[in-house]
Amino acid sequence: MAFIGQGLDRVDGRLKVTGGAQYAAEFRVPDLVHAVLVQSTIGAGAITGFSLAAAQSMPGVLTIITPENALKLHAESNLPQAIRAPLLQDMDVHYNGQHVAVVVAEALEQADAAAARVRVQYRRDEPITSMDAVLDQAYLPKSFRNGERPADSRRGDPDGAFTAAQVKLDAVYVTPIEHHNPMEPHATIARWDGNQLTVWTATQGISGTQQSLAALFGIDPKDVRVICPYVGGGFGCKGNTWPPATLAAMAAKLVGRPVKLAVTRAQMFTSNGYRPRTVQSLRFAADQQGHLVSMRHDGISQMSQPVLGEFAEPVGLATEMLYACPNVAVTHRLVATNAPLPTYMRAPGEASGNFALESAIDELAVALKQNPLDFRMRNYAEQDPHENKPFASKALRECYRQGAEAFGWSRRPSEPRAMRDGNVLIGWGMATSTYPTHRMAANAYVRVNADGTALVQVGTQDLGTGTYTVMSQIAADELGLPVQRIHLELGDSRFPHAPVSGGSMTVASVGPAIKTACQAVRAKLSNDGDTNVALPELLARRNMPSVEASSEAKSGEEQKRYSMHAFGAQFAEVRVDADLGEIRVSRYVGAFDGGRIINTKTARSQLIGGIVFGIGMALLEETHVDGETGRVVNANVSEYLMPVNADIPDIQAILVPNDELVSNSLGAKGIGELPMVGVAAAVANAVYHATGVRVRKLPIRIEDLLV
Ligand code: MOS
Repeated sequence: MAFIGQGLDRVDGRLKVTGGAQYAAEFRVPDLVHAVLVQSTIGAGAITGFSLAAAQSMPGVLTIITPENALKLHAESNLPQAIRAPLLQDMDVHYNGQHVAVVVAEALEQADAAAARVRVQYRRDEPITSMDAVLDQAYLPKSFRNGERPADSRRGDPDGAFTAAQVKLDAVYVTPIEHHNPMEPHATIARWDGNQLTVWTATQGISGTQQSLAALFGIDPKDVRVICPYVGGGFGCKGNTWPPATLAAMAAKLVGRPVKLAVTRAQMFTSNGYRPRTVQSLRFAADQQGHLVSMRHDGISQMSQPVLGEFAEPVGLATEMLYACPNVAVTHRLVATNAPLPTYMRAPGEASGNFALESAIDELAVALKQNPLDFRMRNYAEQDPHENKPFASKALRECYRQGAEAFGWSRRPSEPRAMRDGNVLIGWGMATSTYPTHRMAANAYVRVNADGTALVQVGTQDLGTGTYTVMSQIAADELGLPVQRIHLELGDSRFPHAPVSGGSMTVASVGPAIKTACQAVRAKLSNDGDTNVALPELLARRNMPSVEASSEAKSGEEQKRYSMHAFGAQFAEVRVDADLGEIRVSRYVGAFDGGRIINTKTARSQLIGGIVFGIGMALLEETHVDGETGRVVNANVSEYLMPVNADIPDIQAILVPNDELVSNSLGAKGIGELPMVGVAAAVANAVYHATGVRVRKLPIRIEDLLV
């Protein structure tokens, strides 16, 4: 009875569609009051005073928290996920939309009305609203990737090889500020019982939230309980513990009652990070036969003021490992602006860096007069050229082959503007996708009952991606029980510790922990060699009501010996109106090596969803900032453009079989972020093929084609 590999419906599907799944803002907590954020209306400077009398006298108002009466938080911890500013600890204003006060009232409407009456006096400085004006002040990140590795790398002599090369490309690619915009905006309910804090909060990491709040309030992590059974999408903006969660806990402490703080859609644009704008300079070169001889990828990404923390979009990391090239240099720099702190968003670095990398590869193929797929195959990396290690597995060749065949790539004319349908230009483009296979230690608890049911508890979270379902499948197979008999609980920090659901690592981290705990349960019962007898039967024979076990799965030795990545091949067809420049994606095929697939249905949905993200990145998504005030001008989901059904063609997502068991005990590589990597380049390359116009910035818009 193998449940792994089946396309099972979601075990929480019925709860989701009937409204039975409870999200953070929906929990009923007695005596609850409401907090509303007040945000700055200037882009830089300092608060010089507040006029609060009018707001304070409004009905139902309990308190107004400003830097003058806020709780002093503990600043010494350096947990990267504990965002320490702005938390009303000083009067400085670093960006427009910064939280400057919190109004707490009996009812949400009362808090809202009072928040609108809060008046703030400022000393105004001139904000830096665009990174482009200060590119010459780029600086080295203090702690790139939280100190895991240096920001720069080099192998061979890329500059010398570039100078000597025959075919060269020297180009700058730009990606915009983007916001995550999950369906569920961030929300927290916080309650103190003495010195113990309980939060119901929308988070990608209950363990990180527990650690962060404990550090900020100076209490033991054991005294913080974080509850989050369902998340309405994260995409990176719920990975850290952002100020609204901390401010909700602060407000609850100050008023002595449970407080709900739900961030509005508009406030989401300055409350929990964003994908920073990047400016990427690429210098690539090849010999006449089409072998890459030099790759240089210099990335600059936008930052906030450094006092708020640090985040560098790691745009160059895939450039180090994706192609066999002897001479490679990668650098990452930051420029400080008056913007909020950026963060991880939907394949941070991989997606934005890949647009530059895979556009440049396409440009070189054009310069060489080679088919872009043949050019990529010619430079295929059989092992990781950066780490000098074998890949745990790499079915990219098969992704290219299956994707190309499904798409009909072999019929592609080599010249641009060669396919037409009346007044519509048609173009075909492709790109390679890759995303690292991350894994962190996780624990799990399993109990099998004599009635044939099992309970699995693990402190992970389900972002909407299917964690409940795939973990139940893993437990069912390992215990030899029907999946319907597995009761899986997650989203509570009282359960065994699991890492953040970020970096596409939940299945690879938590799955092996559950598998190991199930094996431990089995070992406890099977010591007399009854390996073919069902566990409930073994329990009955021994007259035992249940058996339980816990496990810890460490991130294994495999990470030292192998380079671990998922791969994919993206193929896009676009139709461009020859007069108006309107671009439509009309056909799409993606073929992916995500290792062993636990659930083909949820996997295919995730792959299609990632491609939709990518089409949005290619053609629609962009946050606009007013150059004068530093204010986000499209802080809503009608003017922050995202794809709707009419923007999306039929998408074919191919799961390329890969039965490896090297990356981890499940062979799962993670597919959360992989499918959006490469989409923007595939679309841009298709736009070039349709029109002959090379667009080196995102999103690609009508006006970019009017040249
Ligand atoms: Mo993801 S951007 O690591 O949540």
